[in-house]
Order: sequence, then structure tokens, then C-alpha cells
Amino acid sequence: MLPQWIIEKKRDGAELDSNEIRDFIDGYTKGDIPDYQMSALAMAIYFNGMTPRETADLTLAMMESGKVIDPDSIRGVKVDKHSTGGIGDKISIPLAPLVAACGGTVPMISGRGLGITGGTLDKLESIAGYRVGLSEPEFFQTLKAVGCSMIGQTAEIAPADKKLYALRDVTATVPSIPLIVSSIMSKKMAEGIDSLVLDVKCGSGAFMKNIENARALAKGLVDTGVAMGKKVTALITDMNQPLGTTVGNALEVQESLDILSGKGPADSQGLTITLAEHMLAVAGIPDPGIFQALENGTALQKFEQMVTCHGGDLAAGLPTAGKQIPLPAPQSGFISKCDAEAIGRASLLLGAGRAKTTDTIDHAVGISNLRKIGERIEKGEPLCIVHSNGHEDQTALFQTLEPAFRIADQAVEPPPLILEIIES
Ligand code: URA
Repeated sequence: MLPQWIIEKKRDGAELDSNEIRDFIDGYTKGDIPDYQMSALAMAIYFNGMTPRETADLTLAMMESGKVIDPDSIRGVKVDKHSTGGIGDKISIPLAPLVAACGGTVPMISGRGLGITGGTLDKLESIAGYRVGLSEPEFFQTLKAVGCSMIGQTAEIAPADKKLYALRDVTATVPSIPLIVSSIMSKKMAEGIDSLVLDVKCGSGAFMKNIENARALAKGLVDTGVAMGKKVTALITDMNQPLGTTVGNALEVQESLDILSGKGPADSQGLTITLAEHMLAVAGIPDPGIFQALENGTALQKFEQMVTCHGGDLAAGLPTAGKQIPLPAPQSGFISKCDAEAIGRASLLLGAGRAKTTDTIDHAVGISNLRKIGERIEKGEPLCIVHSNGHEDQTALFQTLEPAFRIADQAVEPPPLILEIIES
């Protein structure tokens, strides 16, 4: 079948069969189908959606466009977590070693930040020497020795997704549920895992701004995972305010170390524990002992061991920014808004993120000591502290940051962090 006939079929709202999807993705990966035809199909999918069966077929075709790690080549019960991305979401960093300390094996392939959302790889690279690009034998060796390893997507893993993601970025076809599901799940399923927990972010600092869309994405991810024979749970969690009290690469690694020592902020500490519980549950690992692993230091030790295996040196210290500027509260009261999107934008202005994939980032800059919704604050106390190396236009920065916060006279109830749980 010619590619244009497949595009036409999807354009007219019909269901594609498995061979049509596979042939199209194969042709695109090999370069036989050009970007303009793939863009047209992506736009047809954007407008007409896909059935759960088509989405599973698309995921399978993208996964099989590259290397699929043989689960038998990694010892133990393999379980991973994926977050759809948000502001201050550093949870993968403490979570993987915590689950490893409780007996799970976590082969985590993570991403870089793009736009206002941060990426685990950029955060880890704040640690001097940390290599995200381990060779396959090094990756397996780290998993065997430590129980967790956090690397970047290699050229061999889901190359169709790598090409298609870049194309979607410039053709306004990123926010399509079947395209997001197949993109995320093709990479995760190629890791050789047995089970997966998804953290679907919902709110101003996330892809999914409302609960209906977040629910549809979570359901699509769970259904696709189940269709591929995996145990999957999705949590929908709030992303209207940043997670934890820091945004910015090195600052978030420091918060992760605090979480691993049991001393993190209530929300990021709590979410790490909840996600660990779900990961161990889907992995079928009994009597997890999560709190003991935090209290007795084994989770922190796992992290230190993993960093060493990746060539990193925690003893060298994390980079710090030249200037720390507090943002004073204009009045006393209760924090009623701490807008994730605005804080993400401010962090981008500081140089902590990338506007385009080729941009370089400054690991030291960001925002710390963020005050959270529901907290009492007195006039003049810092709403947050800006860590700057002078890359930004200060006027634009404070024009972005100041309206991120609102202070009410009356007490404000902190919003729930976990909105819904969807289990397979
Ligand atoms: N993350 C991905 O890996 N792919 C998407 O399409 C969106 C978020």
C-alpha cells in the first residue's frame, strides 16, 4: 500500500490495520517515507485519534524499530517509573535507588528537559563526571551491582520515536494522546521491564492541563502497557504548583539527596514513598521496607554507588550560582497560588532549561525555598530564592516570577497531590 493511501485512510477517520501501521513506521525509520508524509499522518492521527488497538500497534512498531533489551539479560524483577514531566519533578532520582534498596531492579532510560519541564538526565549531569551514556555492558553491570541505573535514550532504542518526536515538535502534533502514548511506551517497553508505574502530571506546569485529558492519557498508557503484557499503574498527580521546594538542576539533586536521607519536603518526600510503594506492588515484591531503607541509609548508599558506577563524584560538591536573590512577600497571609508554569518559565529565563534541544544549560541556576500553597507567610519573608549566574534579563525574570504567587488573607487548604490512581 502506498503511504499516501494510509494517510488518506486515517485522514478519513478509518481504522488502520496492524500491517499498515508497521509498514509506515518501518518505511519512515529506514528513510523510505519522507518527513512530509510522516507529518501528514501525524496530523491525521492528531485530528482523528486512534483506537486502543491501533495505539498498541503503533507502540509495538516504534519499539521494534530499534533494539529491545532482552528481559532475561537483566537479573531480578525489572520495574520502572515514568513521569509525563513537570516543574521541580526530581522524583526519579531518589526513587530508583529507593526501589533498588527494597529489592527491585530499575533499568531507567530518562530524558532531557525541553521547554519549561526539566529532565532527569540534565539534573544528574549536575554531578561532576556523571555519564548518562553508559555502554550496554556498563549499564548491565551497574544494574547487577547496584540494582538501578539511569541512562539516556541510546541511538538504538526506539529510533522511530526519536525521529518522530523531533518532527512532532515542529509540526504542532505533540499534544495527541495516541502519539504521546506510543512515544512514551515504545521507549519504556524497549527497556526489558516487567512492570511500570506512570506519573501523569496534571495542571499548569504539565502537558495535560485538565483532569479529563490527564485521565485519557493515563488510561491510554495503562491500556497499551496491558496490551503488551505488562503490569502497569498510573497515578495522576497535581502539577499546578511545582513539586518540592526547588526548581533547577543542581538544586533538585540536593533535594533528592535530602529525600534519600528522609529529610525532603513533605510533598516530594511523600510522592517518592507512594511511587515506591506502587512500583514494589506492581513488581510483586513483598514486605518492601521502604521507610527502613530511608532511615538506615541503604537507599542513599544505592544512589552513591550508582553515581560512582556512572563515573560521577558526589564528593566534588554540586555547582552553586553566583547570586542568591530572595523574592520578598508583598504582604502577610496564606499562599493561595504558586504557579508551576510561571516558575518553570522563570527557571528557563535563568538558564536552567532549554528553549531548543541544542541550547546549553547552567546546572547551578534555578529557584529554591519555594513556599507552598496553604503555608502562612509574613510580609518581607522570601516567597522563594532565585539562584542566578546573570544570564537573565532581571526585569523579565521578576515580571514572570512575581505573578506566580498569590497571597490570601484567609487560611487556604493545601491541594491534594494525588488526584487519581488507575490500575490495570
Ligand atoms: N514524552 C515523550 O517521551 N513523548 C511524548 O510524546 C511526550 C512526552
